[in-house]
Amino acid sequence: MAAFTTRSAAFLGLAVVLCVLAGAARAQQLSPNFYSTSCPNLAPIVRLGMTSAVQTERRMGASILRLFFHDCFVNGCDGSILLDDTSTFIGEKNAGPNANSARGFEVIDAIKTQVEAACRATVSCADILALAARDGVNLLGGPNWSVPLGRKDSRTASQSAASANLPGPGSSLATLITMFGNKNLSPRDMTALSGAHTIGRSQCQFFRNRIYNETNINASFATLRQGTCPRSGGNTNLAPFDVQTADGFDNAYYQNLVGQRGLLHSDQELFNGGSQNALVQQYSNSPSQFSADFVTAMLKMGGLLPSSGTQTEVRLNCRRPN
Ligand code: HEM
Ligand SMILES: *[C@@H]1O[C@H](CO)[C@@H](O)[C@H](O)[C@H]1NC(C)=O
Ligand SMILES: *[C@@H]1O[C@H](CO)[C@@H](O)[C@H](O)[C@H]1NC(C)=O
Ligand SMILES: *[C@@H]1O[C@H](CO)[C@@H](O)[C@H](O)[C@H]1NC(C)=O
Repeated sequence: MAAFTTRSAAFLGLAVVLCVLAGAARAQQLSPNFYSTSCPNLAPIVRLGMTSAVQTERRMGASILRLFFHDCFVNGCDGSILLDDTSTFIGEKNAGPNANSARGFEVIDAIKTQVEAACRATVSCADILALAARDGVNLLGGPNWSVPLGRKDSRTASQSAASANLPGPGSSLATLITMFGNKNLSPRDMTALSGAHTIGRSQCQFFRNRIYNETNINASFATLRQGTCPRSGGNTNLAPFDVQTADGFDNAYYQNLVGQRGLLHSDQELFNGGSQNALVQQYSNSPSQFSADFVTAMLKMGGLLPSSGTQTEVRLNCRRPN
């Protein structure tokens, strides 16, 4: 009996080792040089794809940045948001925070096609998204940084995790701090990352209550936004987050918050007399402080990985597992 138990334990141990060798994710070290020999032209290929996308539509820089956030917050940066639903698979694209809202998938597909042509079956969709988000920010006037690489793509996705992990536009400051804290991101990281709302657009349905019912809002800003967001109807009408420089990645988001011109309830929560007031004030006066903290927080967010034991791969088509 004792011998049997020992043999069983040894067998189990071997099975675990084999399983790891077979490709279950280990906590892996990301590095900017990950593809330097296997795909040396990766960065320029992604940059070219993003340059052309942003030339066609400036907003795309924002849309891709948001995709990266929504990827990383749901079981790590693993390309899970890119998986299409099928008749037998429910992914993240139709989860509440993404449905009829997440966009830019065709841009990632086009870049993936170019990357596959240059380096077949080598570069993960998750890494392409990380680079594309960096380029989107930089092409709209934001900082540039070196992106650690070596992520792998998930073979699955979770609609329920997407719904549970991504904050909604009505969130309180306490909820925002908790939800980012759940991802090991500090309140400071949260406030810096929220500066992403210096670019991009929101649908009327997400800020309607704020512009008609809230009192901590600049009156002329509310009137301006009411012009394209009626009390009823027009749910999908778009407005820029940043009333000053809609497609410029700068610190105007924080100047807007200080002037009570935050578009979402959750935006204005960062400057409504709470713990982030001083930091918002600081970012509103210091583009360089915002830039530095934004990059630091993007690197932390980009370092979120699937838990060990998750099956991963380098997907050939970002929309489906191999
Ligand atoms: C702090 C909590 C956050 C909340 C509650 C939130 C919520 C939202 C909402 C409701 C929209 C509008 C979506 C639509 O109308 O379809 C949006 C857009 C956007 N979000 Fe956030 N977001 C948050 C944090 C972030 C972070 C951390 C990033 C990136 C680092 C980000 C990047 C963006 C961008 C760039 C857009 C514009 C996308 C576009 O124009 O296509 N957001 N967000
Ligand atoms: C951005 O930073 C990366 C990594 O340091 C560098 O390779 C790239 O040339 C930079 N891009 C621009 C446009 O400055
Ligand atoms: C304003 O608040 C009231 C009470 O909560 C709500 O019934 C109404 O729908 C809100 N109006 C808008 C335009 O969101
Ligand atoms: C509201 O914002 C406008 C435009 O930035 C500004 O000129 C005005 O002074 C603000 N109103 C108040 C009451 O702060």
